Amino acid sequence: MKQDLRAELKRLVEKNLYRKLRVLENHEGTRARFEGRELLLFCSNDYLGLSRHFRVVRAARKALETYGVGAGAARLISGTSEAHRELEKKIARFKRKEGAIVFAAGFLANLGILTAFADAGDVIIMDKLCHASLVDGARLSGAVLRVFPHKNYKQCEELLKKNKTAQRKILVTETVFSMDGDRADLGELIRLKKKYGALLVVDDAHGTGVIGANGRGATEPKGIAEGVDIIMGTLSKAIGGLGGFVAAEKVLIDFLVNFARPFIFATALPPVLCEAAREAFCVIEEEPSLRKKLWQNVRAVEIGLKAAGFVLAPAGSAILPVILGDEKKALGAFKTLLSKGIFIPAVRYPTVPKGKARLRITVSAAHTPKDIEKLINAFKHLKKAGF
Ligand SMILES: Cc1ncc(COP(=O)(O)O)c(C=O)c1O
Repeated sequence: MKQDLRAELKRLVEKNLYRKLRVLENHEGTRARFEGRELLLFCSNDYLGLSRHFRVVRAARKALETYGVGAGAARLISGTSEAHRELEKKIARFKRKEGAIVFAAGFLANLGILTAFADAGDVIIMDKLCHASLVDGARLSGAVLRVFPHKNYKQCEELLKKNKTAQRKILVTETVFSMDGDRADLGELIRLKKKYGALLVVDDAHGTGVIGANGRGATEPKGIAEGVDIIMGTLSKAIGGLGGFVAAEKVLIDFLVNFARPFIFATALPPVLCEAAREAFCVIEEEPSLRKKLWQNVRAVEIGLKAAGFVLAPAGSAILPVILGDEKKALGAFKTLLSKGIFIPAVRYPTVPKGKARLRITVSAAHTPKDIEKLINAFKHLKKAGF
């Protein structure tokens, strides 16, 4: 059997799809050392630099003294603490929903949502570019999974029509698509979910903290939070820590407590991370300058890359993909950028479709104008090198 596994890994190498872990030393958020070279990182989802914000670190340090490192058990056994309760209250207010619940990871939250709310006899209708955790949740649920082409809401409506008689219809999208950085049309999806009596689930992993006048995410504009049934998000990206959350009406939260297996059967999110996340939400509310800086940086990168000759879709988030197509080419671009002191791993199949390999640039408020200048110069070099 091991022989087979080795052969399979070898095939991955041949197809330029093999992945390996790269150890970064002296990691400082936007900088690290790799193979003896100082590098600038443009690949983290820590969009606001909150993983190292002094207030967030201070809150975590204090919580560590009180709670220690772990939660001890699943929440229903012994794991629920004031830290969980206070964070959930904070998230519910932040997302303008009645209640909230946290999971040990965003991935688990998505598995929990779809396996709890969907069953055999139900249908899940999902955008083609939805995250692996949503796809896996749908598969595990036993419901029929139907996928519509990316942001093609006409086809989405066709699927809703065709499945009118399904017991429960669950409509699923990301708000900001994680590998493309573009945004779903939530207004249109709300219209469709109302028309066909579906439950609308949105994954705001990459919108929370980044989008909206107050950073509440893609559901911040008037009428959107009310129209979306389930807002999922993660504490691992702009919030700077780890964990997932769901904000919804209290009855839906109660349902998750009783039916979401990744909540019931997994050790709880450690309270120290709850306290760090709660402080991170406060920072987002009280320091809008961070979000302003992030968007200034996004614009500067966008303008610089276009001037360097790269074709980009207008930036709707802090994710700017440079699509190179061929997997080998993307790996080559990664190496060329490394030689210029920039670390952006090539994203390849199955994370993105075959032949759509890319450099997924992510921008942070923690990047300085000098960092961005260095990034743009490296991309100019990339262009000259034929990419
Ligand atoms: C859109 C989306 N949803 C969910 C997740 C999973 O979240 P977490 O990393 O907190 O497990 C991710 C992370 O990659 C994501 O990009």
